[in-house]
Amino acid sequence: MRATAKHEPQCEPQLEIIMCGIFGYIGPKENSLELVIKGLQKLEYRGYDSWGVATELDGELFVDKKIGKISEANLDDFKDKKCNFAIGHTRWATHGGVTDTNAHPHFSSDKTIAVVHNGIIENYEEIREMIGKENFVSDTDTEVIPQLIAKYRKEMGFKEAVLETIKKLKGRYAIVVTNVGENYLIAARRGSPLIVGVGENEYFLASDIPAFLEYTQNVNYLDDDEMVIVDGGVEFMNITTGEPIKKRLVNIDLKAESAEKGDYDHFMLKEIMEQKESILRAINQDTDEIMHIAQMIKNSRGCFLSGCGTAGKVCMAGEYFFSLIANRHVNFAPSSEFPVYHHFLRPESLLIVVSQSGETADVLEAMEAAKKKGCKVLSIVNSEGSTIARQSDFSLHIKAGVEKAVASTKAATSQMALLMLIATAMVGELQEGRRLLAEVASQINDMLNPRFLTYIKDVAERIKDHENCYIIGKAENYPMALEAAIKIQEVSYVHAEGFAAGELKHGPIALVTEGTPCISLIANDEVKSDTINNTIELKARGAHIIGISPEKHEVFDDWIKVPDVGIASPLVNIIPTQLLAYYISVLRGLDPDMPRNLAKSVTVK
Ligand code: AGP
Ligand code: GLU
Repeated sequence: MRATAKHEPQCEPQLEIIMCGIFGYIGPKENSLELVIKGLQKLEYRGYDSWGVATELDGELFVDKKIGKISEANLDDFKDKKCNFAIGHTRWATHGGVTDTNAHPHFSSDKTIAVVHNGIIENYEEIREMIGKENFVSDTDTEVIPQLIAKYRKEMGFKEAVLETIKKLKGRYAIVVTNVGENYLIAARRGSPLIVGVGENEYFLASDIPAFLEYTQNVNYLDDDEMVIVDGGVEFMNITTGEPIKKRLVNIDLKAESAEKGDYDHFMLKEIMEQKESILRAINQDTDEIMHIAQMIKNSRGCFLSGCGTAGKVCMAGEYFFSLIANRHVNFAPSSEFPVYHHFLRPESLLIVVSQSGETADVLEAMEAAKKKGCKVLSIVNSEGSTIARQSDFSLHIKAGVEKAVASTKAATSQMALLMLIATAMVGELQEGRRLLAEVASQINDMLNPRFLTYIKDVAERIKDHENCYIIGKAENYPMALEAAIKIQEVSYVHAEGFAAGELKHGPIALVTEGTPCISLIANDEVKSDTINNTIELKARGAHIIGISPEKHEVFDDWIKVPDVGIASPLVNIIPTQLLAYYISVLRGLDPDMPRNLAKSVTVK
């Protein structure tokens, strides 16, 4: 009974944990400050409240930090400041307002130790009390780190003081620490990402790979509760035991240009346009691996799909693909809700998680809940080597390339392509599945031509001033209606809502008034006439109908023609909605790459 059912916590209570970008450099280059700022500009999608850098100049700690976007930093201010190491941060505030003082790096009262931090220190109040509140200048949780290191530093060496401090921290963190007079950086992580880029006698410590991709493609992934000391070389150790750790150097297959905007005004548009190629890359998977996964699903007793936001809507579409193609019931649950289902989990169950970033805390919590019940976890991720990829039993890489815009576009279609491919493999039709998806990619290539873009921009112009917009779809296009709503909400701030087409008459239709833009997602399938009927119902209440469909219909005020690709219709129907969201945002004078209140792969518990 719901009233008495207990939701036992399935894993350690998690914190509200966020993004931000951290970056540190040490090596022969003397323009470290500039290098760190440029690297952080590539991580700006992770947080854009404020930014700051620190290094040692003339034997003293130099710190420069301010509110605003790091993309607006004036590099000339740093050109004459020569130093071989630096740390920097672009913030997404959690504790303490967006002020210059609260910006990172934070430093000790004696201005010898500086720290950049991504995460939340849960026991910061306790540590503040212990050190003496009067010593603190900021309102952040982070400042306790340099202050505590400085306290321990009086009794022991720098490395030991950092280790001692880390042992006292509760919560989640990725930190990079530096100290005046000692030419090295120390970094540690628990729960927030941190990657070590290894170049020729130089090292990079970053939240994400694009920060250093132009210098090296060789990386070491730091795991939770690990620390790394970087000077002439790298030394990894386990924080709890103090034991040294050997790490494998991983070569990542990414080109620096793939993380650049090129000639596009925004990453979001660039990434939408890349979908023709990204889908092809997604389906170019090892046949044995796909067959193995198909078998894992078939063998499982209770298979779940889980993800957040857009990835969650992809999972919902996957639920339809598995049902329609493979006649297999797979359950979807948003990752934030997944632990509630723990009663249904058993060792033979399989959890499939989908994530672009591979770092989403809700997804990690879902995985934790599944593992506690002995289930196997399969992940479908875009960021190779991410925490989700490494913590799953089996991981498939979608190969969408770096996705930087906060709004997920190409990752979503690649994830859907892969789920469809797996469904076809389950019924021995992998080759047919591949052929269909290759055809979809080629049709998308034709669709994304300049005339199509201009037409969608015109449609966006007609609806951009409306405060409400509704999207409907049925069957496998129902999750796409929900996904289209997320896209429009997050980049254009229009109140958009997606509905199952047949649900309108049960309430939401009361919201429709004269001229309300309503988008209808239609495919040439057996539910087409139902969806058309629901669209006519909207029109009868005065809605302005935007039909996204392979065929024209008189009910449409605007018709956006998409190719007829059968069961793969969600992959093509979603693309015009991504473009509509993009153009509405731009026409409203907004920055679609950096929507307010959001950050890429924000993980919120
Ligand atoms: C997508 O446009 C959103 N920004 C968001 O919903 C995102 O899909 C979600 O946070 C999940 O992220 P992930 O794929 O990196 O796990
Ligand atoms: N909790 C820290 C702060 O609010 C770090 C936030 C972040 O990761 O950007 O400053």
